[in-house]
Amino acid sequence: MEAKIKVEHLTKKYQSQKGNAAIDDINLSIHQGELFGLVGPDGAGKTTTLRIISTVLEQSNGVAWVAGFDTKKEAEKARPHIGYMPQNFSLYPDLSVLENLNFFANLNQVPKTRKQVRTQEMLSFTRLERFKSRRAGKLSGGMKKKLALACALIHDPEVLILDEPSTGVDPVSRRELWVILSEVAKQGVTILVSTPYMDEAERCNRVGMLYEGHILTIGTPKELRENIPYEIIEVKAKPRKAMRRIVGETNEILDWRPVGDQLRLTILDTDSTVKRVMKSLTQSFRRESLDVRVLRQVKPSMEDVFVHLIGSQVSPQ
Ligand SMILES: Nc1ncnc2c1ncn2[C@@H]1O[C@H](COP(=O)(O)OP(=O)(O)OP(=O)(O)O)[C@@H](O)[C@H]1O
Ligand SMILES: [Mg+2]
Repeated sequence: MEAKIKVEHLTKKYQSQKGNAAIDDINLSIHQGELFGLVGPDGAGKTTTLRIISTVLEQSNGVAWVAGFDTKKEAEKARPHIGYMPQNFSLYPDLSVLENLNFFANLNQVPKTRKQVRTQEMLSFTRLERFKSRRAGKLSGGMKKKLALACALIHDPEVLILDEPSTGVDPVSRRELWVILSEVAKQGVTILVSTPYMDEAERCNRVGMLYEGHILTIGTPKELRENIPYEIIEVKAKPRKAMRRIVGETNEILDWRPVGDQLRLTILDTDSTVKRVMKSLTQSFRRESLDVRVLRQVKPSMEDVFVHLIGSQVSPQ
């Protein structure tokens, strides 16, 4: 099967940019109907990558293709196949939901009869039917994102590119947005979505982790989890100070970092090591009469994978 989005050696250095390039030698191949997540922290190069693939920005080196068209040399041909929702995308706040959809349909030259059908589809799909006369500026954050998504899909693009669609959205709307994205992908649309939230990577078919302009790894969430040579133990005990000291004194804990009010311990990937560490912690906690709330082995999260890959050792506080 031919890739719907293909990127080879993509590199961008902005004219005003000093030091390293914004993105450096990015390679991606995304198939039809895939929900692909580009995950990385602030400044990783997500927007730069998505802009080039969306034909909005020209690369310094390398090639990107969408639906078989070169996004630089054949931008005009590629464009009708792309629905792009930029980061901080703003709708027209004074226009109603319906008027916004109509505006984007006209902008993308959707034929009149198709426009009527598609507008209805989008309204029911995003559950915005009841709000179609409401001005976009008066919608909640989550509803605004859904409308922006509908506007990006109004012309039936084969490829949907979304730059941080869930940033600034409450958790319930975030979940709803991801359910909608899964549905869109199941209908055969190829989706490339960026996010700074590691946990959202779990919702993608495949994930590319981006850091300082480089792709660190690509794979399904399961593959990425299985590829790290560590096991994770979660601990929560009181008093916290004693818990931290005991963890610090326990052998075979390679690294630990606070997450919420728990500690996440990194242990070498063998059953016997995990057992030894659990036993040692249990004994130490008991000896010092700590109140143990949590002590369990958990599966590595996408954040654990990322932390491992960047080799960052977040020092205990
Ligand atoms: N127009 C520009 N001129 C110069 N440098 C830029 C420009 N746009 C982005 N950069 C730099 O390129 C790098 C990648 O930026 P980019 O916006 O692609 O990252 P990002 O992953 O989208 O980050 P964020 O999470 O903040 O949206 C950063 O170092 C940024 O400062
Ligand atoms: Mg960005």
